[in-house]
Amino acid sequence: MSTVDKYFELVDQHQQKFIETLREVVAIPSVSSDASRRGEVVRMGEWLQARWEALGATCKRVDPGKQDLHGVELDLPPVILGQYGNDANKKTVLVYGHYDVQPALLEDGWDTDPFTLVEMADGRLVGRGSTDDKGPVLGWLLCAETHKQAGLDFPVNLKFCFEGMEESGSEGLDDIIVAEADKWFKGTDVVCISDNYWLGTSKPCLTHGLRGVSYFHLQIEGPGADLHSGVFGGTVHEPMIDLVHLLSTLVDPNGRIKVPGIYDQVMAETEEEQRSYEGLEFSHNALAGDLKRDIIIHSDERMTLKHRWRYPTLSIHGVEGAFYAPGDKTVIPARVRGKFSLRTVPNMEPARVAELVTQYLNAEFAKLGSKNVMKVIETHGGRWWYSSPNHPNFVAAARATERVYGVAPDLTREGGSIPVTLTFEENLGVNVLLLPMGAADDGAHSTNEKIDKRNYIQGIKLLGAYLHEIAVTDLTAATA
Ligand code: BES
Ligand code: MN
Ligand code: MN
Repeated sequence: MSTVDKYFELVDQHQQKFIETLREVVAIPSVSSDASRRGEVVRMGEWLQARWEALGATCKRVDPGKQDLHGVELDLPPVILGQYGNDANKKTVLVYGHYDVQPALLEDGWDTDPFTLVEMADGRLVGRGSTDDKGPVLGWLLCAETHKQAGLDFPVNLKFCFEGMEESGSEGLDDIIVAEADKWFKGTDVVCISDNYWLGTSKPCLTHGLRGVSYFHLQIEGPGADLHSGVFGGTVHEPMIDLVHLLSTLVDPNGRIKVPGIYDQVMAETEEEQRSYEGLEFSHNALAGDLKRDIIIHSDERMTLKHRWRYPTLSIHGVEGAFYAPGDKTVIPARVRGKFSLRTVPNMEPARVAELVTQYLNAEFAKLGSKNVMKVIETHGGRWWYSSPNHPNFVAAARATERVYGVAPDLTREGGSIPVTLTFEENLGVNVLLLPMGAADDGAHSTNEKIDKRNYIQGIKLLGAYLHEIAVTDLTAATA
């Protein structure tokens, strides 16, 4: 029996144990955006470091410094750098993942406690972080542990970089990657990131593009304090009224961005790209099912994918300072901040996006004739990433996928963002591959986030099979 087949057999034998490990880490509520949970984020990083060290990996904990979270000064959680194996005859694969998660409260509408992993009869493993990104991060660890325990040769040198701030903009990480490019990351042959999802629910995929994100706060400041609407309504310029007007000028109900010039930098479509939409596992039916209501804008699947992958989009997220509690309150809020973001695509430049958005909002605000004070603040900008799926790194991953799932993977791009992808590519000068474990309906960031047991277990096999394929792939082979 080949090493890979032996590995697959062991993974099948240890399924329940692997689920228990996922349960253990889901129970650590490592929510990076919540100051009161920062200790849990750190604990999660330490858990990973300890487990890898127990296996014999050399780790380096990098503490990126301080963060100012709404006036509270916090220590940023550690970036855990690691090296597992150091054999000059083996290739070196760098893997990245994040151990922080999105917030989750039972009251948000979860059917079960978000930080208690529940194994459902239909195979779903429900819990915050199960698919984003604790399942995949564990995948690498369990793969290495399984090889070691069975005395199987580990096919590559593995380097890893696990961070605890991804869901909050990866603060501090870019600087660390730049600083370590010729040090800790030296000798990296390829990078693999498992932090995205299949296009559907049955066919695996490899991903070669991500959108960037430019996030803005639009602040309107009026009176020095909140006002009684009975006394002041109709007699003062209300910040909330200005804000609602301005937000409504950003995007129309069909998703068309109204900021002039915003589509100018969008890459033209090539014939190759047009062909790439054919034969993908993607249907509006399934999508409407996942959404629990058919609210899809476009009539054609291809258009939906294009608006997810190759066009910029603008979403409005919320309003800080507005009255939002249940019941009625006749108040005029004194200061409000509307929050919105654009997902950016090749070849948009974040600086240009910020300039266009700011100019436009200034002009629209001037039209209102309001005496309030408006400010546009760009809170973070992450760049898009687009790469060729023909590199031997992708070929190796495609072979691994066929071996585990028996089908050739779809080649996809994503609408979401992992800004650090480009940082690795640029600073290490090597190919980066996105190799997802979870499925389209996993509900990352949502209530009842899950990973299917099938995807988790096969995913652990997939990551291992990929490393074995890399070991026998000529990475210098010319790419088509
Ligand atoms: N795993 C996601 C990235 C992702 C989302 C990939 C959707 C594919 C589809 C990641 O954890 C994430 O949520 N990223 C944030 C980045 C942001 C905070 C800069 C995102 O996309 O909103
Ligand atoms: Mn993620
Ligand atoms: Mn996420």
